[in-house]
Amino acid sequence: MHSLANKRILVTGASSAIGAQIARDIIDQGGKVLGTYRTTPARQLEQFSTEDSFESVCWDALNAPDFLELSSPFDGWVHCVGTIHPQPIKYMNEIGNERLFQVNYFSATHMATALVSQNLLKPGASVVFISSVSSHYPYRGGATYAASKAALETFAKALALELSAKKIRVNTLVCGLVNTPIYQASVAAHSPAEVQRMEEKYPLGIGEPSAVSMPCIFLLSDNSRWMTGSQLLLDGGLMLNA
Ligand SMILES: NC(=O)c1ccc[n+]([C@@H]2O[C@H](COP(=O)([O-])OP(=O)(O)OC[C@H]3O[C@@H](n4cnc5c(N)ncnc54)[C@H](OP(=O)(O)O)[C@@H]3O)[C@@H](O)[C@H]2O)c1
Repeated sequence: MHSLANKRILVTGASSAIGAQIARDIIDQGGKVLGTYRTTPARQLEQFSTEDSFESVCWDALNAPDFLELSSPFDGWVHCVGTIHPQPIKYMNEIGNERLFQVNYFSATHMATALVSQNLLKPGASVVFISSVSSHYPYRGGATYAASKAALETFAKALALELSAKKIRVNTLVCGLVNTPIYQASVAAHSPAEVQRMEEKYPLGIGEPSAVSMPCIFLLSDNSRWMTGSQLLLDGGLMLNA
């Protein structure tokens, strides 16, 4: 339906729950994936061990992406790297502030500069960033996370503008809660009643990784060829209650 046949896509953070699902669906649509992970090739990457269409490489976003030096150009790039570190502003420290910004925002800007300066995005390529509804509706303890995602969204629009001459498109998926290890960690930190209240705000329930992956496949495909600089809201109806 949204064919990615013969497209080679870079998925940064392919070891994330959402990134692994996106990598899986790219391969299922006929594409090839170069996926990055930071820690040991995680559980999520094991599913790809027999795939010819999948290669992985270790990359820590706090370092320069050296592996690109040997790469051939990509038809797409999906950036799934991200982290949270809930912290009230009163107690904010370096980990909750600078490091979070490094991972959530500068990882994308450094990678974008490396890809563009080395001509590693083909004309007509599609770039997708993963943001969060908290960039528009921040939550207590999430100041830096929300701000880093807001910065990412603005950067995506500037990148879309600068790359439009090459018909390279840049779009952002703005997601509500998705059932991943990040979400499970926050569930563990709240009482069952608080979790129930949080989940009840989602008319369609909280998302699964595939609910993010399928729109991402659409954005990577030529079917979205007239979309750039846009923000696609994936929130199960959360904003209907805002
Ligand atoms: N889950 C949600 O509710 C939700 C909602 C809105 C937006 N998002 C966004 O969706 C994206 C994926 O989230 P997820 O829930 O799938 O998260 P996740 O499973 O915790 O994955 C986080 C990913 O970021 C990578 N990463 C973290 N620090 C890194 C660093 N310093 N250098 C390189 N890679 C690093 C991790 O690599 P390793 O695992 O190899 O360490 C992993 O691939 C994130 O950008 C997140 O902010 C998630």
